[in-house]
Amino acid sequence: MGEMLTFPEDAREKFPDKSFQTSHALSDHPLLQLPALVALGQKLDRDQFEYSSGDTGPNQRLEDIKHIDLEPVEVIRNIEDCGAWMVLKNVESDPAYKRLVEDALESGARAAGFKSCQEAGMIDAQGFIFVASANSTTAFHTDNEHNLFVQLHGTKSFHAFENEGREVVPDADLESYPGKHRNHTYQEAFEDRATVYELEPGDGILLPYIWPHWVRTGDEFSISLAITWKTPEIVRSNKLLFANGILRRVGIPQSPPGVYHFWDNIKVWGYTLARAMIEPFRRSERSRRFLRGLLFGRKANYYYRTGGQT
Ligand SMILES: [Fe+2]
Repeated sequence: MGEMLTFPEDAREKFPDKSFQTSHALSDHPLLQLPALVALGQKLDRDQFEYSSGDTGPNQRLEDIKHIDLEPVEVIRNIEDCGAWMVLKNVESDPAYKRLVEDALESGARAAGFKSCQEAGMIDAQGFIFVASANSTTAFHTDNEHNLFVQLHGTKSFHAFENEGREVVPDADLESYPGKHRNHTYQEAFEDRATVYELEPGDGILLPYIWPHWVRTGDEFSISLAITWKTPEIVRSNKLLFANGILRRVGIPQSPPGVYHFWDNIKVWGYTLARAMIEPFRRSERSRRFLRGLLFGRKANYYYRTGGQT
C-alpha cells in the first residue's frame, strides 16, 4: 500500500517548525465520508462537538459568534445547506478513527525522514474533523499542537502566519486555559505576512505549533482532518501557557516561557500536581462540564451553546 501522506523534497529541513504543503491519499477513505461522520457523531460525547454559524470574518469576538439551532448530528447531516462550521474533537476516542489517525501520523513521520513517530518524538496523536458549509470562515486563532492538516472534500483557503517575533499574536494572547476562547484579534495588515494555501482534496499542509491561522471554505461544503501531535517540549510549553494564563487572570501577569527557568519549573510542577488531583473527576462528560464551570466560570462551557440556548 502507498503512503497516506507525502511531503515535498525540501520538507525535511522545515519539519516541524515551518509550514509547507503536503499531499495525501485519504480523500476516499470510508471513515472520512459524510455518512460515516454522521455515524461517528452518534457515538461522541456532547463536549466533543463545537459548532456555530460559518458566516463570520477572520476577526471574530466570542460574543459575536452566531449559534446554529440544530443538534450536532443534524448539523453534519445538513452540512450542504445549514451554513455551519463544526469540529468533531478527539475522534481518536473511537477505535477505528484512532487507528486511522495513528497510521496517518506514522506515515507523516516517515515522510519527514524518521522510521516512526517514536523515533521522531511525536506523542499524543489526536484527530479533529472539520465539517463546514460552503463559504464559511474559521476565525483567526492558534492551536497548541503540531498539525498535519488534510483537505478531503471541497476547497479551503488556509492563511497561516509565522509568529516567531510575536508580531502577529503577542505572548500574553498565546496563554490558554478553559474559558479563554482560542480566537485572537485579527488585522487586515497581517495578510502581508500570510502564507496562503489554496487547498483541494488531496492537498494538505503542516501547520506548526501555535502558528496563527484562519481558514475559509470555497463554494461547496468541506471536510478536513487535522492530525495532531505533541512533543515533550510542547507538553511542557502548554503547561506553562496554562499556568501563565491562570496567573494573569488572577492579576499576576508572567514573563513568557523560557525567560525565568526556575519559575517555569515551579509552574510545570504545580500544574502537573493540580492536574493529577482533578484527573479522577474528569472521567465523565458531566463532571468535566461541572469542573470547567467551577474552576473557570460559566464561559468555560461556551461550546455547549446552540441556537437560542446559552
Ligand atoms: Fe486551527
